[in-house]
Amino acid sequence: MKKKVILDCDPGHDDAMALLMAIASENIDLLAVTTSAGNQLPEKTFNNARKLLSLAQREDIPVAMGANKPLLRELIIADDVHGESGLDGAELPEPQVSPLKTSANDLMAEVLCNSNEKVTFVVTGPLTNMAIFLLSHPELKEKIDSISYMGGACFGGNVTPQAEFNIYVDPEAAEIVVKSGVPVHMFGLDVTLKAQLFEEDVQEIAAIDNPVAKVMAGLLHFFGLTTTQPFMSTENHVEGIHMHDPCAMAYIIDPTMFTTLKKRVDIDTSNSISTGSTVVDYDEVLDGNKNVNVGFDIDLPKFRKLIMDTMNYFSI
Ligand code: RIB
Ligand code: CA
Repeated sequence: MKKKVILDCDPGHDDAMALLMAIASENIDLLAVTTSAGNQLPEKTFNNARKLLSLAQREDIPVAMGANKPLLRELIIADDVHGESGLDGAELPEPQVSPLKTSANDLMAEVLCNSNEKVTFVVTGPLTNMAIFLLSHPELKEKIDSISYMGGACFGGNVTPQAEFNIYVDPEAAEIVVKSGVPVHMFGLDVTLKAQLFEEDVQEIAAIDNPVAKVMAGLLHFFGLTTTQPFMSTENHVEGIHMHDPCAMAYIIDPTMFTTLKKRVDIDTSNSISTGSTVVDYDEVLDGNKNVNVGFDIDLPKFRKLIMDTMNYFSI
């Protein structure tokens, strides 16, 4: 049975792959896309999502813009990673369908009200829109199957020593989500840094004869230049391109691809050196609810095949 999914994203190069993965998968019925402020300003991530749906010839899928900033904090963007457009590295087609005036919150509510099955949320940017929806529609929580998000880390961080970007941008939103009581799956840096594509993969994608693969090859080349830090590679090791966001979607497509453990997760909403960290009680030293299913490992050959199948899907 296909999983009914809403993708909330901030495209963003790896968000783009997660979106295309959902469109291509026979296990997913992508009901809607909503966009968040994160990698770039809200108008840019919104238009990027519209362009990606145009590229995939799926402008029938509704897309709506979400909040223009985090719940309490000022917006921080990742233009150093994703570029001025948020999808630097390739030219995407202009959308043919006029933008929806509906808000992300209203589109989420409309989709859940109209669905006769539970809906899964995949979130690949800051959790602002997800938190707003949970707060404004408690009556619809029962219609949520689960929330699968890319964010956080049990160990480490990529914005500060202990905070990953999506959580760091809106820690308060992340706290609302992990304490919501809804089943939550977390794909943090512990597993997403292992989800790597390499130069030969990009070349294989570039050789696939369809416009989606051509664009994705350009996006991956750019993304590889801005995210793989020199210190990560040594004379004996070449670090690949980190495909963070597709992990959150791949889990919904095929959970067997990942090793996960239920752990208690709290969010640091202080204003300190550890702001935005996901405090994962890995050794279970605290009492309390193991509220999050945390990803720790990935079957990389299976993941890579899913990426390639996604790219080849658009040749049909
Ligand atoms: O830390 C990685 C996350 O930040 C990914 O979602 C990427 O798209 C950026 O938003
Ligand atoms: Ca993202």
